[in-house]
Amino acid sequence: MRTLTVDLGVRSYPIHIGSGLIDDAELLRASLRGRQVLIVTNEVVAPLYLERLARAYAGLELRTLVLADGEASKTLATFERVLSALLEWRFDRQAALVALGGGVVGDITGFAAACYQRGIDLIQVPTTLLAQVDSSVGGKTAVNHPAGKNMIGAFHQPRAVIADIGVLATLAPREVSAGLAEVIKYGLIRDAELFAWLEENIERLRAGDATALALAVERACRNKAEVVAADERESGVRALLNLGHTFGHAIEAGLGYGEWLHGEAVAAGMCMAAHLSARQGWLGGPEVARIERLIERAGLPTRGPAALDPAHMLELMAVDKKVRHGHIRLVLLRAIGTACVSADYDPPALRAVLTERRAAPAAA
Ligand code: NAD
Ligand code: GLY
Repeated sequence: MRTLTVDLGVRSYPIHIGSGLIDDAELLRASLRGRQVLIVTNEVVAPLYLERLARAYAGLELRTLVLADGEASKTLATFERVLSALLEWRFDRQAALVALGGGVVGDITGFAAACYQRGIDLIQVPTTLLAQVDSSVGGKTAVNHPAGKNMIGAFHQPRAVIADIGVLATLAPREVSAGLAEVIKYGLIRDAELFAWLEENIERLRAGDATALALAVERACRNKAEVVAADERESGVRALLNLGHTFGHAIEAGLGYGEWLHGEAVAAGMCMAAHLSARQGWLGGPEVARIERLIERAGLPTRGPAALDPAHMLELMAVDKKVRHGHIRLVLLRAIGTACVSADYDPPALRAVLTERRAAPAAA
Protein backbone atom coordinates (compact mmCIF):
# COMPACT_ATOMS: atom_id res chain seq x y z
CA MET A 1 0.00 0.00 0.00
CA ARG A 2 1.16 3.55 -0.77
CA THR A 3 -0.01 6.50 1.29
CA LEU A 4 0.03 10.14 0.23
CA THR A 5 -1.03 13.11 2.33
CA VAL A 6 -3.18 16.06 1.36
CA ASP A 7 -1.46 18.70 3.42
CA LEU A 8 -4.09 21.07 4.79
CA GLY A 9 -2.92 21.73 8.35
CA VAL A 10 -5.45 20.41 10.88
CA ARG A 11 -7.61 19.13 8.03
CA SER A 12 -4.80 17.07 6.43
CA TYR A 13 -5.75 13.55 5.43
CA PRO A 14 -4.27 10.41 3.90
CA ILE A 15 -4.90 8.89 0.49
CA HIS A 16 -4.27 5.14 0.72
CA ILE A 17 -3.71 3.34 -2.58
CA GLY A 18 -3.40 -0.43 -2.89
CA SER A 19 -5.14 -3.72 -3.62
CA GLY A 20 -7.63 -5.33 -1.22
CA LEU A 21 -8.08 -2.19 0.88
CA ILE A 22 -11.88 -2.52 1.13
CA ASP A 23 -11.26 -5.61 3.27
CA ASP A 24 -8.88 -3.80 5.61
CA ALA A 25 -11.04 -3.11 8.66
CA GLU A 26 -8.26 -1.44 10.62
CA LEU A 27 -7.60 1.06 7.84
CA LEU A 28 -11.28 1.73 7.23
CA ARG A 29 -11.99 2.30 10.92
CA ALA A 30 -8.88 4.36 11.65
CA SER A 31 -10.46 7.73 10.87
CA LEU A 32 -13.81 7.16 12.62
CA ARG A 33 -14.58 9.39 15.59
CA GLY A 34 -17.95 7.94 16.58
CA ARG A 35 -19.86 4.67 16.35
CA GLN A 36 -22.46 5.65 13.75
CA VAL A 37 -21.60 4.90 10.11
CA LEU A 38 -23.73 5.31 7.00
CA ILE A 39 -22.35 3.74 3.82
CA VAL A 40 -23.85 5.41 0.75
CA THR A 41 -23.50 3.53 -2.52
CA ASN A 42 -25.53 2.77 -5.64
CA GLU A 43 -27.43 -0.10 -7.22
CA VAL A 44 -24.47 -1.15 -9.43
CA VAL A 45 -21.75 -1.03 -6.79
CA ALA A 46 -23.81 -2.45 -3.91
CA PRO A 47 -24.03 -6.04 -5.22
CA LEU A 48 -20.30 -5.98 -6.00
CA TYR A 49 -18.73 -4.48 -2.89
CA LEU A 50 -21.18 -3.39 -0.18
CA GLU A 51 -21.12 -6.60 1.82
CA ARG A 52 -17.31 -6.69 1.85
CA LEU A 53 -17.04 -3.07 2.94
CA ALA A 54 -19.78 -3.45 5.56
CA ARG A 55 -17.81 -6.24 7.25
CA ALA A 56 -15.16 -3.69 8.19
CA TYR A 57 -17.69 -1.81 10.31
CA ALA A 58 -19.16 -4.86 12.08
CA GLY A 59 -20.14 -4.12 15.67
CA LEU A 60 -20.77 -0.42 15.02
CA GLU A 61 -24.15 1.24 14.42
CA LEU A 62 -24.02 0.66 10.67
CA ARG A 63 -26.65 1.67 8.10
CA THR A 64 -26.51 1.49 4.33
CA LEU A 65 -28.26 3.52 1.63
CA VAL A 66 -28.38 2.41 -1.99
CA LEU A 67 -29.00 5.17 -4.55
CA ALA A 68 -30.01 4.93 -8.21
CA ASP A 69 -27.09 4.75 -10.63
CA GLY A 70 -25.86 7.45 -12.93
CA GLU A 71 -25.19 11.14 -13.41
CA ALA A 72 -28.93 11.83 -13.73
CA SER A 73 -29.28 10.96 -10.02
CA LYS A 74 -26.80 13.66 -8.92
CA THR A 75 -29.66 15.94 -7.88
CA LEU A 76 -30.94 17.89 -4.90
CA ALA A 77 -33.65 15.23 -4.50
CA THR A 78 -31.03 12.47 -4.02
CA PHE A 79 -29.02 14.69 -1.69
CA GLU A 80 -32.20 15.17 0.38
CA ARG A 81 -32.67 11.40 0.53
CA VAL A 82 -29.30 11.04 2.22
CA LEU A 83 -30.12 13.80 4.73
CA SER A 84 -33.54 12.27 5.46
CA ALA A 85 -31.92 8.91 6.15
CA LEU A 86 -29.45 10.51 8.59
CA LEU A 87 -32.30 12.24 10.41
CA GLU A 88 -34.52 9.18 10.45
CA TRP A 89 -31.71 7.13 12.03
CA ARG A 90 -30.87 9.92 14.50
CA PHE A 91 -27.27 10.22 13.43
CA ASP A 92 -25.29 12.67 15.54
CA ARG A 93 -22.35 14.95 14.84
CA GLN A 94 -19.76 12.22 15.50
CA ALA A 95 -21.27 10.06 12.75
CA ALA A 96 -19.40 9.32 9.52
CA LEU A 97 -20.62 8.99 5.96
CA VAL A 98 -18.72 6.52 3.80
CA ALA A 99 -19.04 7.05 0.05
CA LEU A 100 -18.63 3.73 -1.79
CA GLY A 101 -18.78 4.35 -5.52
CA GLY A 102 -17.74 6.60 -8.37
CA GLY A 103 -17.72 10.37 -8.55
CA VAL A 104 -21.50 10.61 -8.52
CA VAL A 105 -21.90 8.80 -5.19
CA GLY A 106 -18.83 10.62 -3.84
CA ASP A 107 -20.09 14.08 -4.78
CA ILE A 108 -23.62 13.54 -3.41
CA THR A 109 -22.41 11.89 -0.20
CA GLY A 110 -19.74 14.54 0.29
CA PHE A 111 -22.29 17.31 -0.06
CA ALA A 112 -24.57 15.59 2.46
CA ALA A 113 -21.62 15.26 4.86
CA ALA A 114 -20.87 18.97 4.38
CA CYS A 115 -24.43 19.98 5.24
CA TYR A 116 -25.73 17.52 7.83
CA GLN A 117 -25.66 19.32 11.18
CA ARG A 118 -23.28 21.81 9.47
CA GLY A 119 -20.74 19.12 8.71
CA ILE A 120 -19.91 15.55 9.70
CA ASP A 121 -17.06 13.22 8.80
CA LEU A 122 -16.68 11.77 5.32
CA ILE A 123 -14.59 8.82 4.17
CA GLN A 124 -14.19 8.35 0.44
CA VAL A 125 -13.91 4.80 -0.89
CA PRO A 126 -13.75 5.51 -4.63
CA THR A 127 -14.52 2.59 -6.95
CA THR A 128 -14.02 4.11 -10.42
CA LEU A 129 -10.74 5.15 -11.95
CA LEU A 130 -12.10 8.67 -12.32
CA ALA A 131 -13.01 8.86 -8.64
CA GLN A 132 -9.65 7.41 -7.55
CA VAL A 133 -7.60 9.85 -9.61
CA ASP A 134 -9.72 12.93 -9.09
CA SER A 135 -13.15 13.31 -7.51
CA SER A 136 -12.50 11.61 -4.15
CA VAL A 137 -9.58 13.94 -3.41
CA GLY A 138 -9.77 17.66 -2.73
CA GLY A 139 -13.08 18.23 -1.00
CA LYS A 140 -15.25 19.46 -3.85
CA THR A 141 -18.78 18.18 -3.36
CA ALA A 142 -21.85 19.06 -5.41
CA VAL A 143 -25.06 18.13 -7.17
CA ASN A 144 -26.18 19.25 -10.63
CA HIS A 145 -28.92 21.69 -11.56
CA PRO A 146 -30.68 21.30 -14.94
CA ALA A 147 -29.19 24.68 -15.90
CA GLY A 148 -25.64 23.89 -14.85
CA LYS A 149 -23.32 21.13 -13.78
CA ASN A 150 -22.09 21.01 -10.13
CA MET A 151 -23.76 24.36 -9.49
CA ILE A 152 -24.89 23.53 -5.94
CA GLY A 153 -22.25 22.31 -3.55
CA ALA A 154 -19.65 22.95 -0.88
CA PHE A 155 -16.01 22.39 -0.06
CA HIS A 156 -15.75 19.61 2.52
CA GLN A 157 -12.55 17.60 2.84
CA PRO A 158 -12.77 13.89 3.63
CA ARG A 159 -11.05 12.38 6.68
CA ALA A 160 -9.47 9.74 4.43
CA VAL A 161 -9.48 8.44 0.88
CA ILE A 162 -9.14 4.69 0.50
CA ALA A 163 -8.53 3.73 -3.14
CA ASP A 164 -8.63 -0.03 -3.70
CA ILE A 165 -7.13 -0.75 -7.13
CA GLY A 166 -8.67 -4.26 -7.05
CA VAL A 167 -12.23 -2.94 -7.48
CA LEU A 168 -11.31 -1.41 -10.84
CA ALA A 169 -11.34 -4.95 -12.31
CA THR A 170 -15.14 -4.85 -12.62
CA LEU A 171 -15.24 -1.45 -14.32
CA ALA A 172 -16.63 -1.28 -17.87
CA PRO A 173 -13.97 -0.38 -20.50
CA ARG A 174 -15.83 2.84 -21.32
CA GLU A 175 -15.55 3.89 -17.65
CA VAL A 176 -11.81 3.10 -17.59
CA SER A 177 -11.38 5.39 -20.58
CA ALA A 178 -13.40 8.12 -18.86
CA GLY A 179 -11.05 7.94 -15.87
CA LEU A 180 -8.02 8.14 -18.14
CA ALA A 181 -9.25 11.53 -19.38
CA GLU A 182 -8.58 13.01 -15.93
CA VAL A 183 -5.15 11.34 -15.75
CA ILE A 184 -4.24 12.84 -19.13
CA LYS A 185 -5.43 16.18 -17.73
CA TYR A 186 -2.74 16.15 -15.01
CA GLY A 187 -0.13 15.41 -17.66
CA LEU A 188 -1.29 18.34 -19.74
CA ILE A 189 -1.58 20.94 -16.98
CA ARG A 190 1.53 20.25 -14.88
CA ASP A 191 3.26 16.92 -15.48
CA ALA A 192 4.80 16.46 -18.94
CA GLU A 193 6.63 13.37 -17.68
CA LEU A 194 3.29 11.76 -16.80
CA PHE A 195 1.99 12.64 -20.27
CA ALA A 196 4.98 10.87 -21.87
CA TRP A 197 4.50 7.86 -19.54
CA LEU A 198 0.85 7.68 -20.61
CA GLU A 199 1.93 7.65 -24.24
CA GLU A 200 4.02 4.56 -23.42
CA ASN A 201 1.47 2.82 -21.21
CA ILE A 202 -2.04 3.71 -22.38
CA GLU A 203 -2.77 0.21 -23.71
CA ARG A 204 -1.68 -1.41 -20.42
CA LEU A 205 -3.99 0.93 -18.55
CA ARG A 206 -6.93 0.23 -20.83
CA ALA A 207 -6.30 -3.49 -20.41
CA GLY A 208 -6.64 -3.12 -16.63
CA ASP A 209 -2.99 -3.85 -15.71
CA ALA A 210 -3.10 -3.40 -11.92
CA THR A 211 0.53 -2.23 -11.62
CA ALA A 212 0.07 0.44 -14.28
CA LEU A 213 -3.26 1.52 -12.78
CA ALA A 214 -1.73 1.85 -9.30
CA LEU A 215 1.07 4.00 -10.72
CA ALA A 216 -1.41 6.19 -12.59
CA VAL A 217 -3.62 6.63 -9.51
CA GLU A 218 -0.64 7.49 -7.33
CA ARG A 219 0.83 9.99 -9.79
CA ALA A 220 -2.55 11.63 -10.39
CA CYS A 221 -3.30 11.85 -6.67
CA ARG A 222 0.16 13.29 -5.99
CA ASN A 223 -0.53 16.02 -8.53
CA LYS A 224 -3.99 16.70 -7.14
CA ALA A 225 -2.80 16.70 -3.52
CA GLU A 226 -0.11 19.30 -4.34
CA VAL A 227 -2.58 21.58 -6.13
CA VAL A 228 -5.24 21.30 -3.42
CA ALA A 229 -2.67 21.93 -0.67
CA ALA A 230 -1.60 25.11 -2.50
CA ASP A 231 -5.10 26.39 -3.21
CA GLU A 232 -7.87 24.55 -1.38
CA ARG A 233 -10.72 26.92 -2.33
CA GLU A 234 -9.73 27.56 -5.94
CA SER A 235 -8.71 31.18 -5.70
CA GLY A 236 -5.80 30.53 -8.06
CA VAL A 237 -3.88 27.51 -9.27
CA ARG A 238 -6.63 24.97 -8.54
CA ALA A 239 -8.63 26.36 -11.47
CA LEU A 240 -6.09 24.63 -13.75
CA LEU A 241 -7.66 21.30 -12.73
CA ASN A 242 -10.60 22.40 -14.84
CA LEU A 243 -8.79 22.01 -18.18
CA GLY A 244 -11.47 20.98 -20.69
CA HIS A 245 -14.21 21.26 -18.06
CA THR A 246 -15.91 24.48 -19.23
CA PHE A 247 -16.42 22.85 -22.63
CA GLY A 248 -17.14 19.47 -21.01
CA HIS A 249 -19.72 20.69 -18.51
CA ALA A 250 -21.54 22.43 -21.38
CA ILE A 251 -21.60 19.14 -23.29
CA GLU A 252 -22.93 17.24 -20.27
CA ALA A 253 -25.66 19.77 -19.50
CA GLY A 254 -26.53 20.35 -23.17
CA LEU A 255 -26.97 16.66 -24.05
CA GLY A 256 -28.70 15.82 -20.76
CA TYR A 257 -26.69 14.45 -17.81
CA GLY A 258 -25.46 10.91 -18.43
CA GLU A 259 -25.59 10.93 -22.23
CA TRP A 260 -21.84 11.48 -22.47
CA LEU A 261 -19.72 10.40 -19.50
CA HIS A 262 -17.98 13.20 -17.59
CA GLY A 263 -14.55 11.95 -18.71
CA GLU A 264 -15.65 11.80 -22.34
CA ALA A 265 -16.94 15.37 -22.24
CA VAL A 266 -13.71 16.53 -20.57
CA ALA A 267 -11.63 14.71 -23.22
CA ALA A 268 -13.40 16.50 -26.09
CA GLY A 269 -13.11 19.73 -24.09
CA MET A 270 -9.35 19.29 -23.65
CA CYS A 271 -8.99 18.90 -27.44
CA MET A 272 -10.99 22.11 -27.94
CA ALA A 273 -8.78 23.88 -25.39
CA ALA A 274 -5.68 22.60 -27.24
CA HIS A 275 -6.98 23.94 -30.57
CA LEU A 276 -7.82 27.32 -29.04
CA SER A 277 -4.34 27.42 -27.46
CA ALA A 278 -2.87 26.74 -30.92
CA ARG A 279 -4.87 29.65 -32.35
CA GLN A 280 -3.33 31.81 -29.60
CA GLY A 281 0.08 30.78 -30.90
CA TRP A 282 0.87 28.96 -27.65
CA LEU A 283 0.79 25.34 -28.85
CA GLY A 284 2.29 24.05 -32.06
CA GLY A 285 0.50 21.73 -34.50
CA PRO A 286 2.62 18.69 -33.50
CA GLU A 287 1.70 19.18 -29.82
CA VAL A 288 -2.00 19.38 -30.64
CA ALA A 289 -1.66 16.21 -32.72
CA ARG A 290 0.13 14.45 -29.82
CA ILE A 291 -2.69 15.40 -27.46
CA GLU A 292 -5.43 14.24 -29.82
CA ARG A 293 -3.59 11.01 -30.55
CA LEU A 294 -3.28 10.11 -26.85
CA ILE A 295 -6.92 10.96 -26.19
CA GLU A 296 -8.01 8.84 -29.14
CA ARG A 297 -5.81 5.93 -28.01
CA ALA A 298 -7.42 6.20 -24.57
CA GLY A 299 -10.75 5.43 -26.25
CA LEU A 300 -12.08 8.94 -25.85
CA PRO A 301 -13.73 11.46 -28.20
CA THR A 302 -11.62 14.26 -29.64
CA ARG A 303 -14.58 16.28 -30.94
CA GLY A 304 -17.75 17.67 -29.41
CA PRO A 305 -21.11 16.06 -30.12
CA ALA A 306 -22.81 16.77 -33.45
CA ALA A 307 -26.08 17.38 -31.60
CA LEU A 308 -24.83 20.56 -29.88
CA ASP A 309 -24.51 23.61 -32.10
CA PRO A 310 -21.79 26.17 -31.30
CA ALA A 311 -24.20 28.93 -30.24
CA HIS A 312 -25.87 26.64 -27.70
CA MET A 313 -22.47 25.43 -26.47
CA LEU A 314 -21.43 29.03 -25.90
CA GLU A 315 -24.60 29.78 -23.92
CA LEU A 316 -24.01 26.74 -21.73
CA MET A 317 -20.34 27.62 -21.25
CA ALA A 318 -21.42 30.93 -19.75
CA VAL A 319 -22.86 28.97 -16.77
CA ASP A 320 -19.47 28.20 -15.28
CA LYS A 321 -17.91 28.87 -11.91
CA LYS A 322 -14.89 30.52 -13.56
CA VAL A 323 -17.04 33.21 -15.22
CA ARG A 324 -16.06 36.69 -13.94
CA HIS A 325 -18.08 39.81 -14.79
CA GLY A 326 -19.79 37.89 -17.59
CA HIS A 327 -16.51 36.76 -19.19
CA ILE A 328 -15.85 33.09 -19.76
CA ARG A 329 -12.37 32.29 -18.47
CA LEU A 330 -10.79 29.17 -19.91
CA VAL A 331 -7.92 26.92 -18.97
CA LEU A 332 -5.56 26.95 -21.94
CA LEU A 333 -2.19 25.33 -22.64
CA ARG A 334 1.15 27.07 -23.06
CA ALA A 335 2.81 23.70 -23.69
CA ILE A 336 2.23 20.06 -22.79
CA GLY A 337 2.71 20.27 -19.02
CA THR A 338 2.02 24.00 -18.65
CA ALA A 339 -1.43 25.60 -18.38
CA CYS A 340 -2.92 28.98 -17.56
CA VAL A 341 -6.36 30.46 -16.91
CA SER A 342 -7.13 33.09 -19.50
CA ALA A 343 -9.91 35.46 -20.51
CA ASP A 344 -7.48 36.87 -23.04
CA TYR A 345 -8.46 34.77 -26.03
CA ASP A 346 -9.99 35.91 -29.27
CA PRO A 347 -13.83 35.35 -29.06
CA PRO A 348 -14.14 34.63 -32.82
CA ALA A 349 -11.37 32.01 -32.40
CA LEU A 350 -13.43 30.34 -29.66
CA ARG A 351 -16.49 30.28 -31.92
CA ALA A 352 -14.38 28.86 -34.74
CA VAL A 353 -13.04 26.10 -32.49
CA LEU A 354 -16.57 25.21 -31.35
CA THR A 355 -17.66 25.00 -34.99
CA GLU A 356 -14.64 23.11 -36.32
CA ARG A 357 -14.23 20.69 -33.42
CA ARG A 358 -17.82 19.44 -33.55
CA ALA A 359 -18.32 15.88 -34.84
CA ALA A 360 -19.93 15.60 -38.24
CA PRO A 361 -23.61 14.64 -38.04
CA ALA A 362 -24.25 10.96 -38.82
CA ALA A 363 -25.29 10.37 -42.44
CA ALA A 364 -29.07 9.93 -42.85
P1 NAD B 1 -20.07 7.38 -11.82
O1 NAD B 1 -20.00 7.66 -10.40
O2 NAD B 1 -21.38 7.53 -12.51
O3 NAD B 1 -19.52 5.91 -12.07
C1 NAD B 1 -19.47 5.42 -13.38
C2 NAD B 1 -20.22 4.08 -13.50
O4 NAD B 1 -19.43 3.02 -12.96
C3 NAD B 1 -21.54 4.03 -12.77
O5 NAD B 1 -22.48 3.31 -13.51
C4 NAD B 1 -21.17 3.29 -11.49
O6 NAD B 1 -22.28 2.66 -10.88
C5 NAD B 1 -20.20 2.28 -12.02
N1 NAD B 1 -19.23 1.74 -11.07
C6 NAD B 1 -18.62 2.38 -10.05
N2 NAD B 1 -17.67 1.61 -9.52
C7 NAD B 1 -17.69 0.45 -10.20
C8 NAD B 1 -16.92 -0.74 -10.13
N3 NAD B 1 -15.88 -0.87 -9.29
N4 NAD B 1 -17.23 -1.76 -10.96
C9 NAD B 1 -18.24 -1.63 -11.86
N5 NAD B 1 -18.98 -0.52 -12.01
C10 NAD B 1 -18.69 0.51 -11.18
O7 NAD B 1 -19.04 8.28 -12.64
P2 NAD B 1 -17.52 8.70 -12.37
O8 NAD B 1 -16.91 8.77 -13.70
O9 NAD B 1 -16.90 7.89 -11.32
O10 NAD B 1 -17.65 10.17 -11.77
C11 NAD B 1 -18.18 11.23 -12.55
C12 NAD B 1 -18.69 12.30 -11.60
O11 NAD B 1 -17.60 12.80 -10.82
C13 NAD B 1 -19.30 13.48 -12.32
O12 NAD B 1 -20.50 13.83 -11.70
C14 NAD B 1 -18.27 14.58 -12.12
O13 NAD B 1 -18.83 15.86 -12.12
C15 NAD B 1 -17.70 14.22 -10.78
N6 NAD B 1 -16.36 14.76 -10.54
C16 NAD B 1 -16.15 15.40 -9.37
C17 NAD B 1 -14.90 15.89 -9.07
C18 NAD B 1 -14.65 16.53 -7.73
O14 NAD B 1 -13.58 17.10 -7.54
N7 NAD B 1 -15.57 16.44 -6.79
C19 NAD B 1 -13.85 15.74 -9.98
C20 NAD B 1 -14.09 15.08 -11.17
C21 NAD B 1 -15.36 14.58 -11.44
N1 GLY C 1 -11.81 18.41 -10.48
C1 GLY C 1 -11.45 19.76 -10.24
C2 GLY C 1 -11.03 20.03 -8.84
O1 GLY C 1 -11.06 19.18 -7.98
O2 GLY C 1 -10.67 21.13 -8.53
